[in-house]
Order: sequence, then structure tokens, then C-alpha cells
Amino acid sequence: MATTTFQGNKADVRARRIRFGIPASLQLTKTHLTAVANNKGGVGKSQLVVQLAAALARLGFRVLVCDMDPQANTTRRLGIEYDPSAPIATMSEVIKSGERGVGQGAVIPCGWVDSDGNPTAEAENIDLIPSRFDLINRETEAGQVGAVRRLKRALEGWRDEYDIVLIDTPPSLGHLVQMALAVAETVLIPFDPTYDAVEAAIRLRDFVQMHAEDLANPGLHVGGVISTRYKRTVEAEQQVAGAREHFGELILDATRIVKEPDIDDLLLPRSIPEWARLTEADSAAVSLSAWSDRQSRKTVALYDSVASEYINKVIGELT
Ligand SMILES: Nc1ncnc2c1ncn2[C@@H]1O[C@H](COP(=O)(O)OP(=O)(O)OP(=O)(O)O)[C@@H](O)[C@H]1O
Ligand SMILES: [Mg+2]
Repeated sequence: MATTTFQGNKADVRARRIRFGIPASLQLTKTHLTAVANNKGGVGKSQLVVQLAAALARLGFRVLVCDMDPQANTTRRLGIEYDPSAPIATMSEVIKSGERGVGQGAVIPCGWVDSDGNPTAEAENIDLIPSRFDLINRETEAGQVGAVRRLKRALEGWRDEYDIVLIDTPPSLGHLVQMALAVAETVLIPFDPTYDAVEAAIRLRDFVQMHAEDLANPGLHVGGVISTRYKRTVEAEQQVAGAREHFGELILDATRIVKEPDIDDLLLPRSIPEWARLTEADSAAVSLSAWSDRQSRKTVALYDSVASEYINKVIGELT
């Protein structure tokens, strides 16, 4: 594998911030928590969590990823393989305990390493509470008093160590998702350009509006909606246009012309396209910056732009 295109030094972070419209000296005023969710599967939730975390890390922010999906795709893609001979604490134990602050004991660093086996520069800014298939066993505990607030309690007292907490969720509106919604301040909804995904995004928005108070989290709101896996077809264009009608200003727009070092001016697309390199990064469990060819530089710039949109629109720190 080629060397990373992100070195992690202050000059690199600074140059990247300036390229993507973020003040070099910006420090977030408080920790911000976002649940990434959609009531449809396969829309790119886990990819968004992983590669947005990487992009935020490249922009100099400290990120905690919480994997609330028993599929544990995000955990694996962040370089953590389940090893039955060396078990580690996971989200399942954290939620089972439900004690205040207990999540801290399950935090591990992102597992991305360079060719010498050292953590990559992005990994140094990313921590994770990993998931495992047995997290599904927590679903049946939904009826227990206060169960919906267990993730919130688990993060209490120490989450301020991070600038941003990103929570990945399974494609449902069930208890695991509700625990994420009970602690998040904003929901970020990715959708692929299909009727079902747009409908599921609307269903989630309505669920949030209807149940934020039931989740003891009345301030919860959809902070952004992003089109993913975009392939230019008439159908896809119609679905994205439909989503724009429903979500208006909430749609994140990655469009930007950037001057990437060694590449001519680069026009980034509005949506996250269906690009092979994005699937390859998910399969190989690496950040996009693990490669340094032209296509990868485009994908890195695309996600840096998405991260800038996230900071600007979803958490509103640039306004
Ligand atoms: N923009 C993209 N370009 C190419 N492949 C993508 C893109 N986004 C996601 N994929 C691929 O599509 C598949 C589904 O993506 P992902 O697992 O991130 O979706 P998900 O919404 O988290 O799914 P689930 O609902 O099962 O949790 C994966 O194989 C992923 O690599
Ligand atoms: Mg997923």
C-alpha cells in the first residue's frame, strides 16, 4: 500500500482547513454528538461514519465513534477485528451495565496502521467504542426502566474529551437506534437515490419530530441529509430532486472547486458518488488517504468537503 497522503502535522491540518473554508484556529465550543441513521439498509451510513471521522481527524478534530450496530461494520472498517481468543469490552457490555460513565472503559484507538505498523495520523485523532454481533441481545432490554438512556449515561462525565461523537446505527427505528437518538443532538441522514431510501429518510425525520420528547431529548433534530451512492441516471436525479423538496436547506452539498496539491483544479460533486475506491476503502478497512493515486485524492477531497459541510451546517460552528 502506498504511503498516506495525510501526514498529520500542524501545517497539513492548517492547509487543509484553509482549503475547505474552516478557520485555521477554529476550536469547537463544545462536544457535538451526531447519530448517523436511516430506516433503510445499505445507504452508506457506516461508510459515512468512518470516512467522515477520518476527514474530521484530518481537519484536526478529536472524534469518538460509537458503533451501535450489531453488524459491527464500522468497527471492522476502523481496523478492529473480533478475536474470540482475546475478547475486549464492547458496546454490548457498556449498554448492559448502563452505569454512568461506563463507556470510557471500552474505548479503544482506531486500528488503522501504516506500513510500519504504527497508527496512522488520522487514527491518532479517532477513538472507538466497538460493537460485536451480540449487541443485538440488548434489543430485548428495551422494556426496562430507563433503558433508552443507557448510551447517554455511559458517555456522561468524559465525552468532553472529544470534539465530535459520531454514532453509527442499524437500519431500523428500534431500541438500539433509539438509544443513539436519546443522546445525540443532531441526526445526519444519508440516502441512496432510491424511492425507498428517501421515504425511509422522511420516516426517520417524522420519528424524530414525534418522539424527541419521549426520548427525553427534546432538542434532537435532523441536522443534515446527504445523498450517497449517486450514479447519474434519470431515476437517481428524480429521487435526489424529490429529497431536496422534502429536506430543502438540510441537504448537505459537497460541491466545491479545490486546489489539491499536484492536481489541477478539482470540481467536487454535490452528492457522494458511487465510486469503486469508496467500496475498496470499506473492504480494506482503511482511510481513503491510504492510497495516493489521483482517484483517491479525489475521494479524500470529497470527504474533506463533506466534513466542512458537516461542521458548517450540522453543528453550525462556522455561522
Ligand atoms: N459512495 C459509495 N460508493 C461505492 N460504494 C459504496 C458507497 N457507499 C457505500 N458503499 C458500499 O455499499 C455497501 C453498503 O454501505 P454501508 O455498509 O456503508 O451502508 P449502511 O447503510 O451502513 O448499511 P447497513 O444498513 O447494513 O448498516 C458497502 O459495501 C459499501 O462499501
Ligand atoms: Mg452500517
